[in-house]
Amino acid sequence: MANFRKIGIITSGGDCGGLNAVIKGVARRAYSSGIEAVVIPNGYAGLYNLVDMDNIVALTADRISSIQASIAGSEAGHSRVKIGKIQDPTKYERIKNGLKKFGIDGLIISGGDDTGSVVVDLLAQGIPCVHVPKTMDLDLQSYSVGGDSAINRIAVLTRELKTTGMSHNRILVLEVFGRYVGHTALRGGVAAEADCILIPEIPVDFDVVYEDMKRRYFSRIERSDVKAGTYAIVVSEGIKTITGELLYNESVGVDAFGHKKLAGAGKYVRQQLEKRLKNDPEVKEFMKKVGMYAPGVYEAPEVREVVPGHIVRSGHTSAYDVNFGEKAGAAAVILLIEGKSGNTVVNVTGNKIHYQSTAEIIKRREVDLSEIALFESLGTCFGRKPQKYDYELLVETSTKIERFL
Ligand code: F6P
Repeated sequence: MANFRKIGIITSGGDCGGLNAVIKGVARRAYSSGIEAVVIPNGYAGLYNLVDMDNIVALTADRISSIQASIAGSEAGHSRVKIGKIQDPTKYERIKNGLKKFGIDGLIISGGDDTGSVVVDLLAQGIPCVHVPKTMDLDLQSYSVGGDSAINRIAVLTRELKTTGMSHNRILVLEVFGRYVGHTALRGGVAAEADCILIPEIPVDFDVVYEDMKRRYFSRIERSDVKAGTYAIVVSEGIKTITGELLYNESVGVDAFGHKKLAGAGKYVRQQLEKRLKNDPEVKEFMKKVGMYAPGVYEAPEVREVVPGHIVRSGHTSAYDVNFGEKAGAAAVILLIEGKSGNTVVNVTGNKIHYQSTAEIIKRREVDLSEIALFESLGTCFGRKPQKYDYELLVETSTKIERFL
């Protein structure tokens, strides 16, 4: 068991729900173990610049109380700085000097895959650190704090958008964050009973989307006594074109981690549907039949894309993420004390702390496509011809590690 007197907390990458719960879990557990917890502000940028700081914030009992676990974002601040990319050959010495200056002998670092790769680097430099999984994208091998909060936000936004969609008989496309995987779009979309969910893991056939939209949207309006209807699509920002290209705008550039900033998936989906609506002779007949047609003004249903962007990771943290965050933060302190540096907290079940090497946890996890066919059998469109749900029956013989998604 290693002897730690002071540990630093870093939150890094994109912020999201649950991080303040992680901070509180770390600080309270450290406090109860007689260890001082301090904030290293603004992610790895702060770690790099620590040596030049005059003072840092200690998470005393009073200071911890001033942080609300249920508020998203992070009291410790964020940056998308990856230490390995800093153009300074003395960067690791500088970091070590900063830690020495403030007497910090271990780090708890919460972040996603890029953040985790720095945890591996720092450990190789002899700096003890434990990783708490965090990303609204849910693309790590374990559950990561922030995922459930983002899913809930997406579900609420999608459900609420339907009210304006119904009033205007519009087809609505909600483009959501998630990078190269569709976990949050999928779960949020299912929770909101979206008609169609488009994810990066499934190349989109827009003819399939159009036919599904037409069938459901037309019949909804035809059957409605007030001739109202909508069709809701949740699209992950990382979907690819039929030729396999990501939809990003060159002018938006890359972030400090070097990732392309994705943009334009919602717009692309809208354009694909508008093109088909314009060229479909049945559309005019439908508009006339339901009393929507106005020559030269309103000849086809409208499609609108909505891009909430950072709103999906702002605001409030879900109850699940507060629970997971506090447990994971506290467990990270225990792992650090127990000399388990270079590992990621996977979960806490009862008195068992599950952990795995950070290098393994940060490998990208995509949506399990075998489950998609189940939702297709329930009527959701995924931009492909529905496939048969090929199931297998398994009897449980032991308690498994809880895996959220
Ligand atoms: O990785 C988390 C995430 O929210 C992605 O889903 C999204 O593409 C990206 O961050 C946005 O990054 P930024 O906040 O740097 O614009």
